[in-house]
Amino acid sequence: MQSRLLSWAVPPALILSLWVTAAEKGDAARGKQVFKRCAVCHGDSGEGNERIAKAFGVAMKPFSSKEVQALDDANLKKGIVEGRGKMRPVSLSDQEAADVIAFLRTLKK
Ligand code: HEC
Repeated sequence: MQSRLLSWAVPPALILSLWVTAAEKGDAARGKQVFKRCAVCHGDSGEGNERIAKAFGVAMKPFSSKEVQALDDANLKKGIVEGRGKMRPVSLSDQEAADVIAFLRTLKK
């Protein structure tokens, strides 16, 4: 009897907890899709587009670099959604921001 009750109660709880973690944590695969909006300026793998860097008059740091990877998630997110320096704010949902940051982490060398 009790095991029957458990078999009904556990799967939804498990699914819910997986879903909650998925929503909080960024997903790099989804982030790769979001990154298409960044790639015009940052290049397909975050190395920075030379022409954009010239046009903005900045040295764009590659995302694989220590400087960028040293920023924590909150700081990265702030720079992305509020803009930083010559970079204009990009409007992203919290989930999209978490996803794109997860993708940035995969670029670390
Ligand atoms: C219109 C061009 C453009 C787009 C689109 C763009 N960026 Fe940028 N980004 C820049 C420029 C230019 C800089 C350099 C800013 C500076 O140094 O003044 C920069 C800097 C950064 C940095 C540097 C680290 C920092 O905070 O100092 C990060 C991280 C970054 N961008 C992430 C993103 C992400 C993620 C996206 C997509 C959601 C994105 N950018 C879209 C132009 C762009």
